[in-house]
Amino acid sequence: MNNNIDNREAVYYDGERDSMVILDQTLLPNEVKWLTLTSAEEVWEAIKVLRVRGAPVIGVAAAIGAYVSAKQIKAERFEDFSAEFGKVCAYLNSSRPTAVNLSWALNSLQLPVNNLQLTGNDWREYALKAILAAALEIYRGAIADSEKIGEYGLSLTKPGDGILTHCNAGRLACMGIGTATAPIYAGHKRGYGFKVYADETRPLLQGARLTAYELYSAGVDVTLLCDNMAASLMKSGKINAVFVGADRVAANGDTANKIGTLGVAVLAKLFGVPFYVCAPYSTIDAKTKTGADIVIEQREPSEVSEMWYKKPMTADGVKIYNPAFDVTDAELITAFVTEKGIVKPPYKFS
Ligand code: MRU
Repeated sequence: MNNNIDNREAVYYDGERDSMVILDQTLLPNEVKWLTLTSAEEVWEAIKVLRVRGAPVIGVAAAIGAYVSAKQIKAERFEDFSAEFGKVCAYLNSSRPTAVNLSWALNSLQLPVNNLQLTGNDWREYALKAILAAALEIYRGAIADSEKIGEYGLSLTKPGDGILTHCNAGRLACMGIGTATAPIYAGHKRGYGFKVYADETRPLLQGARLTAYELYSAGVDVTLLCDNMAASLMKSGKINAVFVGADRVAANGDTANKIGTLGVAVLAKLFGVPFYVCAPYSTIDAKTKTGADIVIEQREPSEVSEMWYKKPMTADGVKIYNPAFDVTDAELITAFVTEKGIVKPPYKFS
């Protein structure tokens, strides 16, 4: 892909240096800075402050991060190493609560370790190899999933469509060609001539800083709008489909995604526009029955009142509501686009 970010994934394992590299997304689009992370604390911080973000990328970052953290574990015996590795995974899992890909990835990593019984002198080498192999499988899987989501999603569109998206479920959030953006990139490659509209996505501006940036850099026709402009845009008839990503899909299809997604879904229903959620199966959490059971991350008030302003833009002491996600009811979702195909209602994941 030809864009300013270059062809690297937002998080990857550098085999030559046996290390983890991430693109610091908090600095985009003004600065492209790659960071090498070597400890569990650094990985935890990078996920917490959204240097790496977006459900699938959080999963990959946790997986490769668990590997580089495991290299630091000091233990004489495999049993002690394995117990310590469990603690590292629990610590990384505490960095953010809503995207299920985080715990999914860490559980997938712990499984091979728990299944090992190592007694010889070379147990450390075997254990680390098994962890790295599992982490790289998650990395490759995310890229492969995004390609398949792109093909299935494309079948729901036609050339020239106007497409609205919210937040960033692009390659920066999901690897490969993203999830919500995957049909867009797939169509762009075939000359579909989509007109894409990206909600800016208050308060952290993932739409403005990331989606508009990555699509524009790839040569896609993309227009940025403030979140409160989506209603009039949809009413004008310019939008044929909405594609968004997901952070956690409950068993009944209720879906947590970036704050503001629910409003877009309500609008889509009102104006008769199909509303598609693009996500890999790793984002489906069959253990969570409905959206009411999804833990919604609350973030710092300063993200709303100070982050993008020279001076605070509200009076000192004003109370601020800052949930990072909302839950879109399953009945508002026309279909899920997954790597295994398109899933239409009634939804029941098991
Ligand atoms: O807080 P973020 O930036 O990690 O949240 C990401 C989102 O909620 C995106 O909307 C996305 O759809 C989920 S990640 C594919």
